[in-house]
Formats: sequence, C-alpha cells, structure tokens
Amino acid sequence: MEGFTQAAIHLDLGNEKNVFTPYCFRFVPLIKNKNMHQERIEAIKREIAKADAGNPEELEAYRINYISKKSVVGELFAAMRDIPNEQKRAYGQLVNEVKQLAEEKFQELIEKVNSSASKSKSTDLDLTLPPSNIHVGGVHPLTATRQRIIEIFERIGFNLSEGPEIEDDWHNFTALNFPENHPAREMQDTFFLEKNPDIALRTHTSSVQVRVMENQKPPIRTLSPGRVFRNEAISARAHCIFHQVEGLYVDENVGFADLKNTLYHFAKEMFGKETKVRFRPSFFPFTEPSAEIDISCQLCGGKGCNVCKGTGWVEIGGSGMVDPNVLENCGIDSKRYTGFAFGMGIERIAMLKYQIKDLRLFTENDVRFLKQFRSMV
Ligand code: DAH
Repeated sequence: MEGFTQAAIHLDLGNEKNVFTPYCFRFVPLIKNKNMHQERIEAIKREIAKADAGNPEELEAYRINYISKKSVVGELFAAMRDIPNEQKRAYGQLVNEVKQLAEEKFQELIEKVNSSASKSKSTDLDLTLPPSNIHVGGVHPLTATRQRIIEIFERIGFNLSEGPEIEDDWHNFTALNFPENHPAREMQDTFFLEKNPDIALRTHTSSVQVRVMENQKPPIRTLSPGRVFRNEAISARAHCIFHQVEGLYVDENVGFADLKNTLYHFAKEMFGKETKVRFRPSFFPFTEPSAEIDISCQLCGGKGCNVCKGTGWVEIGGSGMVDPNVLENCGIDSKRYTGFAFGMGIERIAMLKYQIKDLRLFTENDVRFLKQFRSMV
C-alpha cells in the first residue's frame, strides 16, 4: 500500500495540469498512520493548487475529482471512520482545510471559465452583416459661403483679420467718420450695452478696418468676416444677427480701378464667369466716392424676375475709396496712401448662390434644409 501512496505523490509532482488525472488517492481509506495522512493531504493540496480548467468539461472533471462525494476529498471524509478516536479531531481539521481549499479553487475556476466564455462570445462578430447607418453631417451653408469667399480673396493676396463683436463708439462709428446725429447711432437701430461711454454690438465689420489700420502699416490687404447686429425685426429678408465680410486694401497708388477689378474677379469666381457687376453711386460716411455693388441676377440671368424685382440686378454690398479722414483717424498719412474698402453680406451671397428665399432658414436648424448642403465641403 505504501508503494501506491508514494507513486501517487510522485505522479502528482510530475503533473503540470492535473485536473484530468484520476488519482490513486482513492486508496486513502487504507491509510493507517498519522504521518501518512499528512503526506497525502499535503499532496492533495498541491494538486488542488495546480489544478486548472479552461472549459466547462475540465471544470466538471475538477468537480468530480475534488468536490463530489466520490472525490478524493469526499473519500478523505469517508476515511474518518477508520481513524483512531484520539486522532479524529486533528484529522478532521486537516480534511476540512482541504475541503475549503478545493471549494475556493472551484469558485476561481468557475469564474475563469465563465469569463473566457464571455470573451469568446464577443468574437462571435459577423463581419458579413451590412453596416449600421452612419449619419454624415454637413457644413452649414453660411460656413461654406464664408469659406469660399475667404478662399477667393486669399488667392489674390488678402490676409484674414478679426475684431470684437462688442465694440466701442470710436471703432464702430467715430473713427469711420459717422456724424454725431447719424441714424445708426440711434437706440432703435443699434444694440447699445452701455451709454457714455458708448459700447454696442457692432453694426458692421467696418470697425475691423479701423482696428487693422491702427495696428498695421500699409501695405494692408485684409479680409474680415464676422457677425454683426442691428435692431431689426426678423423677416424673410432681415435679421437682427447676420454676417458680413469686410475687405480693405491700403497702399500707395490704390485707385477705384483696383476696387472694380477686385470685385469683378470675386463675382466671377463666386457666381460664375457670365456674372456681370455694376457699381451704383451711393454714400457711406467712411468712403469717398462710394458705390453699391450689384451683380446680375442669378435666377433670371439679368432678364428680370421677382427676385431682382424686374431690374435684372441684385445688391451684394457697399464699397468705395477709404475717406482720407478715416486714414488720418487711424494714423495713416492720407497724402501718401489711398485705399479701397468693401463690405458684403454673407447671408445675401449665400441666398443668391443657393437660391434660398428666406433668411430665417439659416438659423432655424431645420435638418430638411441643412441636409441639402451635405455634399458641400
Ligand atoms: N459697413 C457698410 C454696411 O454695413 C458696408 C460697407 C460699405 C462697407 C462701404 C465698406 C464700404 O467697407 O466701403 O452697410
């Protein structure tokens, strides 16, 4: 018998994974001496420590070997009846330890097998299934229009500049030669945040002209897009918040022909080669002479329709030669330098380009409207 026991211990030590090995510990009931119990119990403990299970079958094999009634542990309990009375207590303690160890290990193996089962489930990916819908957004038509305008002017040497939306009286009005009683300075036309000194939401991007000229020396060739605010009732054609893009070119010998050529170039790039441009004499406090910029109607090609009110022309902005007073207000020598400026409405240009009839659509966030611009980058 002793030979068997030794062999069992020996086998156990030589086994890496011992779950599958039904052991010769089945001879445990025949153990007669105290040291031998201890040896066997230690061997079983080592076995349990090394036991492993990678799938439900191996887990079940472990259960049969170490947990079930007929397992080696079960048999250790059964052997109790052959143990002399005075040793029963110590033996019982040892066997209970083994039982606890076997159960702890069983829990550990259950968790291991469960987690590897759930891991393998996540690889049950069916790559042949059609993909779920990916919703691709689009660029807002105003953003796209602004980008296109910037692109056109950047290619002919204009850089970009920005100014604050909350502006003081000097930059929005006074430096731009607005007389004291100009209607734009009235509360009903402009959102004033403070009076004396006057702080307001800028009414146009022309204020950025002043900021650039105060801080830079000619030659200046800059484009300033941005948001502007006017105290207007919202309708299909007007809004209290809208966007403009301002252009400014100051250098020696800049003339009205440069202004015309620049805007011809812009109109053809933006709306197409067939587009005609017309300059209509006008007045702005900060330009002299001043002109309204009209382009041939995109809808009727100049024949006359309800968009152009039968004239064949639509207005896209204002322009002119920078008034010498403005240059001087900004510290630029008006004897040496001349310049031109223009300001255009971005909504206006987008409405003409994409034939949008109602200004409010830009800010209502109706996806049915926005979706139509999805293909634009
Ligand atoms: N600031 C003017 C407006 O909002 C537009 C404008 C007119 C800008 C003439 C200019 C200009 O730079 O030269 O109505």
